[in-house]
Amino acid sequence: MSAPNVNRMIVIVGATGNLGRQVVQKLLARGVPADRVVAAVRRPEAAQELGVPVRRADYDHPETLPAALAGARRVLLISSPGPFGQRPAQHRAVLEAAGDVELFAYTSILGGERSGARLAEDHQATEAAIRASGLPHVFLRNGWYLENYRPSLAHAATSGGVSVGRQTGRPTQPAGSAGEIVGSAGPDARVASALIEEYAEATAAVLTAEAPKPVYELSGDVAWSFAELAAEVARQAGRPVGYRRLTPAEHLGVLTGAGIPEPVADLLVDVDAAVDRGELATKTGDLAALIGRPTAPLAEAVKRVLAS
Ligand SMILES: NC(=O)c1ccc[n+]([C@@H]2O[C@H](COP(=O)([O-])OP(=O)(O)OC[C@H]3O[C@@H](n4cnc5c(N)ncnc54)[C@H](OP(=O)(O)O)[C@@H]3O)[C@@H](O)[C@H]2O)c1
Repeated sequence: MSAPNVNRMIVIVGATGNLGRQVVQKLLARGVPADRVVAAVRRPEAAQELGVPVRRADYDHPETLPAALAGARRVLLISSPGPFGQRPAQHRAVLEAAGDVELFAYTSILGGERSGARLAEDHQATEAAIRASGLPHVFLRNGWYLENYRPSLAHAATSGGVSVGRQTGRPTQPAGSAGEIVGSAGPDARVASALIEEYAEATAAVLTAEAPKPVYELSGDVAWSFAELAAEVARQAGRPVGYRRLTPAEHLGVLTGAGIPEPVADLLVDVDAAVDRGELATKTGDLAALIGRPTAPLAEAVKRVLAS
């Protein structure tokens, strides 16, 4: 990849989220001047500490988008958190407001059109719309964040009781004095997760690259199994932690019982089916190549997630 150009205006749409905040930080760390980065956000008051100019951009109020994207040479659209099914329309609104940018980057899902997960459908529709727009584009197909499991890992490491992840809704349940991680994927199913910080660093590298590839399949260098994940949490916590496989119906019941709306819970159970098919275990080395080092090994990644 050629030397970074730090003088174009880059607009980050969704800059107040977990990924967006770190993309802004990583762009500044790469030497992009703060006045060349715009945080386009639904709630400007939540973006003041980012240290870059802030503009209001609400997918559900498309009239806010042209001004939010004015002057952009490169745009990063971070996929909307939902509602699922409405995301393609939200994303199209941003695409239509983008004008003649020289690069439209979109955070998609690992595997893109090959993914069979229902969660991927919105990403596939968005990728198709971006391709059809004719704009120069790059798809950052992100694998799973290890942070998705943070509440479950922390809970399994320390206590019993039911705990449900904020993003994946992955629950843990008590089993005597042992910690337990549960889900409907098999114990040997593998996930090549990486840390959000690593995805952010890779994204900043792409946004400043002279000639990025059209597609990056981003994932960790190691595809761990749930049995290995539980063993690593046990090692670090100094207490027994196991992984217990539930049936999809049991998994759905645990998720809805914990207050997750059924359509979302249903999608999360479906993700575990995709994990069983190996769809989140893809390793291409794209992420490591972009950040210029191997991704964090499982032990280090778990340590960082448990400490956060
Ligand atoms: N790869 C993975 O493992 C994984 C895991 C979870 C999610 N995701 C996907 O990746 C995306 C980024 O992840 P994340 O953890 O950064 O998500 P996040 O923390 O939930 O951030 C989502 C961002 O979208 C913004 N947003 C929501 N509705 C909006 C609207 N109507 N108009 C404008 N902005 C809106 C949020 O703004 P506010 O601050 O105003 O809410 C926030 O900045 C998610 O949105 C989701 O699509 C991927």
